[in-house]
Order: sequence, then C-alpha cells, then structure tokens
Amino acid sequence: MEISLNGKTYVVTGATSGIGLATAEQLVKKGAAVIGIGRSQERCDAAKAHLISLDPQASVTCCLADLSLQSDIRALRGKIEKALAEMGKEYLNGLVNNAGTFTYWLALTPEGFEKQWAVNHLAPFLLTHELLPLLLAAPTARVVTVSSGSHYQGRLKWDDLQLRRRYSGLRAYQNTKLANVLFTLELNRLMGADSTVRAFAADPGLVKTDIGLKGTPSLVRWFWKRRRAGGKPAHVPAQGIVFLLSEPSLQGSDEVYWKAGKPKRASKFALNEDDAFRLWAQSELMCGIA
Ligand SMILES: NC(=O)c1ccc[n+]([C@@H]2O[C@H](COP(=O)([O-])OP(=O)(O)OC[C@H]3O[C@@H](n4cnc5c(N)ncnc54)[C@H](OP(=O)(O)O)[C@@H]3O)[C@@H](O)[C@H]2O)c1
Repeated sequence: MEISLNGKTYVVTGATSGIGLATAEQLVKKGAAVIGIGRSQERCDAAKAHLISLDPQASVTCCLADLSLQSDIRALRGKIEKALAEMGKEYLNGLVNNAGTFTYWLALTPEGFEKQWAVNHLAPFLLTHELLPLLLAAPTARVVTVSSGSHYQGRLKWDDLQLRRRYSGLRAYQNTKLANVLFTLELNRLMGADSTVRAFAADPGLVKTDIGLKGTPSLVRWFWKRRRAGGKPAHVPAQGIVFLLSEPSLQGSDEVYWKAGKPKRASKFALNEDDAFRLWAQSELMCGIA
C-alpha cells in the first residue's frame, strides 16, 4: 500500500537536479511538504516550478545555500525555521543529505577546506547538527545521507583527511562517501537506540545524472558520459531514499547502509566504531562545534 506523507515535512539538499530532485518529486507526489536546498536561484526556481507542476497544491520552499560554505549552512537554520513557521509547522520529519560534488583537481573553498570534503562530508555533518533540534521535536524523524558504493574503496588518512598533500579527486570522493557512512554510524550511536531520530546511509547505485559533468575536465566528462549510460534513472534510488525516510518499521533498525530498500554490508572501514568516533571529533573541530 502507498504510504501517504501528508502533513510531513522534509529538507532535501541538492534538490535542483539528479537524485535530489527525483526524491523531492516522490515526496511531493506522496503529499509531503518539501524544503529544497540549492545553490542557484535560477535552478531553485526551476525545480520549484517543476515540483508544483506535479501537484499545484504542493507545499514547496526553496532555500539558497552554497553547501561548501559553513557560513551558508549556519544561515540555513534560520531560513528553514522561517519556512516552517510560514507553513504553521514546528518540526521536520526528515533531512536528506544528498547534495554532492566531484572535483578532479584540488580546489579549496573560500573557508579553506578541500571542496569535496566540504560539500560531501562537512555539509551533512554541520547541517544535521544545525537541524537536530527541529528533527528531535518531531514524533519520529530520519536523517538519510546519500553515500555511494565508492565508499568501499575509501581509506581515511588521519594525518591528511582532505588529501591536501597528495590529492587524487577520485580518492577524495571515495573518502567523503566513506565519511558519510561513518557519520551515520556515529550519529546513531550518539542518539541512542531509543532515539526518535534514526539515521541511514543510502547507496543509490550507478545513476544517470550530470554529477561528473559539472566543472570537470573534458576527459572526466567523456568518461562519465560513457559510465553513466549503464546507470539507472534517478527515480530508482529516490524510491529507496523515500523508503528510508518513511517506512515505520525501520525506526528500531540498527542497519546503517542501505541499497534499493535493503540493508547491505558496508566496508569494514565504514563500520569501524573507533574511526566513526574519531571522524566525528575531527569534524566538530573543523566546523567549530564545541
Ligand atoms: N550519480 C551516481 O551514479 C551516484 C552514485 C553514488 C552516489 N551518488 C551521490 O548522489 C548524490 C546526488 O548526486 P547526483 O548524482 O544526483 O548528482 P547531481 O545531479 O549533480 O546532483 C547534485 C546536487 O548537489 C547540488 N550541489 C552540488 N554542490 C553544491 C553546493 N556547493 N552547494 C549546494 N548544492 C550543491 C547540485 O546543485 P546544482 O543543480 O546547482 O548543480 C545538485 O542539486 C551525491 O551525494 C552523489 O555523491 C551519485
């Protein structure tokens, strides 16, 4: 039976394209209110118009933020509280940390972080921290972070987490996706088994999106166009994400890593509790969290 998400509200980062937009589409079709996060006003407006075209009664808000910047992420909390107040709501039922990027060359954000580390790992970490009071205020809530099968190749280098000394774009991407699972593991441990907030890492599989075409060299674009040809359309992983957001029986689940609606064993490096604890502490320092 179709689960109705009428009355529920979800934040989706990277809601302007690919898996994030497909997730927002499915949430809207199930009656949920969506607060989408995007970095471009034009793309936000287009995504909002598209979502409203699916259901003219849909409640869709777009908040602008460059998730490579901690200053923008901190400002999001106020914007999301304002959006909720305008909807007459006091809490969030879920957060989808979906926005992600691939950069081939070492690029630093204006705040001095390696870009993939900032967008793919620190942004989910800090945004979840900022929105936790709104998630804890809900009867139950979910935090779904979009990881990747690339995490199986990830190996964190504790003396150079951002790979600034010896950069490889692919290794940096793999490490951020490993960090997504470790973050999820530690979030659940800190919240406790009885918490109303449950976190999951989603593996979308190979998906036909433009991620490898954005700001990448021509060789990477050529490679990604060939590779993604064998991928699934974005609505397929979106179904898995919506399942993780909404399936009531998962509230007590201690499975961390999910693909296509089923738990899957993550790499042994992703399930290392000491590493999860250590990464959390390092991420707090990087985000200036006491
Ligand atoms: N495609 C795959 O095969 C695949 C496989 C495994 C995991 N994933 C993961 O799936 C997630 C979604 O990726 P996708 O494939 O759907 O790619 P996508 O279509 O490029 O979507 C990425 C989204 O993130 C947004 N974004 C990127 N950098 C941002 C920033 N600095 N601030 C705010 N938003 C930003 C993009 O905004 P714009 O629309 O403005 O570009 C876009 O909405 C990522 O976490 C990715 O690592 C993808």
